[in-house]
Amino acid sequence: MCDYKKTIYDAAKKVLSELDPADVTAADAFCDYCIPCFKFAKIMRKSPAAIAAEAAVVIAVDGMKVEALNGYLNFTVDRNTFTQRVFDTQIGKRKPLEGTSVCLDYSSVNIAKPFHIGHLMTTVIGGSLYKMYKALGAEVIGINHLGDWGTQFGGLIAAYRRWGDEKRLNERGLDELLELYVRYHNESERDEEVAAEAREWSKKIEEGDAYAVGLFEKFKATTLEQAKKVYKRLNIEFDSYLGESFYVDKVPGVEKKLKEKNLLEISDGAEVVMLGDDMPPAIIRRSDGASLYIARDLAAAYYRHENYAFDKCLYVVASHQALHFKQLFKVLELLEEPWANGMVHVSYGMVSVEGMSLSTRRGNVLYLSDVLDAAAEKAAAIIAERNPGLEDRNEVAESVGVGAVVFDALFDGRLKDKNFSLADALNFDGETGPYVQYTHARCRSVLDKAGYMGGKIDCSQLTDDEAYDVVKLLADFDDVVLNAALKYEPSFVSRRLVKICQAFNRFYNADRIMCGGETEKARLALTCRVADTLAYGLELLLLDAPRKM
Ligand code: ARG
Repeated sequence: MCDYKKTIYDAAKKVLSELDPADVTAADAFCDYCIPCFKFAKIMRKSPAAIAAEAAVVIAVDGMKVEALNGYLNFTVDRNTFTQRVFDTQIGKRKPLEGTSVCLDYSSVNIAKPFHIGHLMTTVIGGSLYKMYKALGAEVIGINHLGDWGTQFGGLIAAYRRWGDEKRLNERGLDELLELYVRYHNESERDEEVAAEAREWSKKIEEGDAYAVGLFEKFKATTLEQAKKVYKRLNIEFDSYLGESFYVDKVPGVEKKLKEKNLLEISDGAEVVMLGDDMPPAIIRRSDGASLYIARDLAAAYYRHENYAFDKCLYVVASHQALHFKQLFKVLELLEEPWANGMVHVSYGMVSVEGMSLSTRRGNVLYLSDVLDAAAEKAAAIIAERNPGLEDRNEVAESVGVGAVVFDALFDGRLKDKNFSLADALNFDGETGPYVQYTHARCRSVLDKAGYMGGKIDCSQLTDDEAYDVVKLLADFDDVVLNAALKYEPSFVSRRLVKICQAFNRFYNADRIMCGGETEKARLALTCRVADTLAYGLELLLLDAPRKM
């Protein structure tokens, strides 16, 4: 939206040849932008103060005052001009990633396993990046790479045949599958017959036996039905649900390529690719003929490249799979596939939860849907107290409760481990989703009361510190979104939204909005701008933006 940084960079580069775009930073206290001159001292053989002083005389930027102070080059914008520029552009209209294609592998649940709190991060980081890349003009393919292959499903069929029945499965869904699975595990350890049956069914699935595959498809549908309910609550979408099983018959194609490049070796009867000293070899096929996880991921990578011609293929997966992705990318590098450069493991830290009672845990896992339910319930109680007359109270409570969990998950840098607390996430005065949603609703209510209709404004009415602080935070919002997408960090956006809210609330308390005349018009326009930016940002972070709260 605002390319002042670039304008400053272009002007200063002529004088400071070693200047990087990143050296031009937005400042707060003394000026609007600055360039620290310390790094030039060595090359230019002058003190930073002298460099800044000399540069300040030469550099001229339209609509800006340039000054030197203690080794810094400070740029102060003419507030009126700056504000005008902000209002002349619309947020979210620039499409810098148009023409690029991005595959985004996220959530990627496992069949017949619960959708538990451990899946929260991959689901919301991936879902949010999906929205951001789309908003930036990229073509995005959201892929739920289902964990739908493995010998465990033979066990599930064996268990279902022994102890399950269709009626109970239809009624209890995933709960029934989990119980069967646990029972299979316990009994197969003691009873060799159960284990043998499992192997038999596992083989039948592999051979494509209609009955076995049919049952497995039913288990798959049951799992997905539940996952999709959660996705709906989280505003998440996918374009593809092609899982691991889809790639099993494509592994031979990968083996062929590996053989052609002399990369495939036999070790103890298994097919492996040696990856050098700093990594264990990648096992493609076991000695019993079964393909491995990495083999199916290699096949998937080729499939995605052939079908989507991706520039980037992102895998939003927990940090404990770091070695797997290092090996995957290394094999593709050995295969000399140039597109392997575009593959990225978007890793994230661990989540633990406090304040959820053990009684809501089923078995040893905490279901994501239970966490969302608890959050929505708490939100309902808070709203009942704050705004008892609110229409659509249940709907708003769902938006606020679920939003609180999601915003919290996206608030810290993704690599940091998190300890999630419901009470903190729902604090309306904290750095939270509800705080941002509430500020948005407050803006809308001001605008509704005023009957705001838009129209031209006099930007010189917005040059006081409180209003101008808000303007500055809105000015480069598009850059923040772009940066968040390119660094795979939705937290850049969530943090900026909180800052905008804080600045807006200072403005709201300091400047009376309904003061009549041109000032009122301009202040309403700023309020509208804030509301639109918050709504846009919330959407990118998967949150609803209720108009009333
Ligand atoms: N299903 C896997 C798990 O839950 C994650 C799959 C990630 N994606 C991939 N292409 N390997 O651990």
